[in-house]
Amino acid sequence: MKNVPTRTIKAAGPHEELAEAAHVLRSGGLVAFPTETVYGLGANALDPEAVNKIFRAKGRPADNPLIVHIAEISQVEDLSDDITVPARRVMEAFWPGPLTVVLPKKPGVPGEVTAGLQTVAVRMPDHPVARELIRLAGVPVAAPSANRSGRPSPTTAQHVRNDLEGRIDVIVDGGACRVGLESTVLDLTSEPPVILRPGGITREEIEEVIGPVEIDPALWELHDRGTPKSPGMKYAHYSPKAEVVVVAGDDYGKIFVKVSELILKYRSSDKKVGVLASLETGRGYSADAVYPVGSRANLVTVAQNLFYGLRFLDDEEVDLIIAEGYPEEGIGLAIMNRLRKAAGNNVIYV
Ligand code: TXA
Ligand code: MG
Repeated sequence: MKNVPTRTIKAAGPHEELAEAAHVLRSGGLVAFPTETVYGLGANALDPEAVNKIFRAKGRPADNPLIVHIAEISQVEDLSDDITVPARRVMEAFWPGPLTVVLPKKPGVPGEVTAGLQTVAVRMPDHPVARELIRLAGVPVAAPSANRSGRPSPTTAQHVRNDLEGRIDVIVDGGACRVGLESTVLDLTSEPPVILRPGGITREEIEEVIGPVEIDPALWELHDRGTPKSPGMKYAHYSPKAEVVVVAGDDYGKIFVKVSELILKYRSSDKKVGVLASLETGRGYSADAVYPVGSRANLVTVAQNLFYGLRFLDDEEVDLIIAEGYPEEGIGLAIMNRLRKAAGNNVIYV
């Protein structure tokens, strides 16, 4: 793929610059932009050639469909004409916000966006820069996370530069992302609705609005068995360069003991060890690098810093990353899903 000069603009800079970024989108170019979850790599969703460029820049498999981002709830009507009552309810409850809904697609939505599926994933981000950019572009914006395929999703503009410099036209720098991991993907074409990817909005929050929802069983199978409904779930994901192991269990005292044991074991065989720890235990580890993600009492902070921490430890060039696990409820479900995938399901229970 040819090298293109990537221009970075500050979201807080002159308004004309954001208008120029919107113009790049409208003319078929690629623009990375901040959302409340992670940075997205946007292209005009109605332009198949522009959408193809996303797949090339990321090295993304062509059978993994993209989320279409909109600036107003009413734009969903341009993408789907089959919006059921539960769909309407969740959109009203959680948009703008980290929830993506899967709906039957209108014929006008290009197959390049949906990877040939008859459904389309739609989301209205809760970030003023993202929405202003989409509004100025005047088109729906297809955007996966702005990382090279397989890498942890980017939560800062620097992460995007590290992965995509020279492969995309513009990066809009809006600082660090608030949620830190991706949106929840909710399939509303089945009854009951199914969570295909846990994320920023929890199962519990969704059930308060529309009653019981299921969790895609494929979420627990990280290996390529069958065809998961969310095609993205079958690929290696969020992988730092280092090997990753997760130590999980109900009692974090036990987690601390096991992680300490592993640190000793690997360091004695001359491996450089990094730990992705909670604030409660982080100070107690004598590893080569420790990244404290957040407090067990506030998992939202753990989610916020998770991908940042994985990339940080990679930059420390450790051979092994040991990550502490968290309870799989609320946002903990999404945290553990990302950790499992980063570790290729290499999880030790204590
Ligand atoms: O928070 C987010 O969702 C971020 C920001 C940029 O908005 N985007 C993001 O996109 O995470 P991406 O491409 O990394 O993940 C999209 C996920 C994939 O797992 C994909 O398979 C699934 O959504 N998906 C997209 N369209 C789908 C469809 N029609 N049916 C089922 N799953 C779909
Ligand atoms: Mg992604």
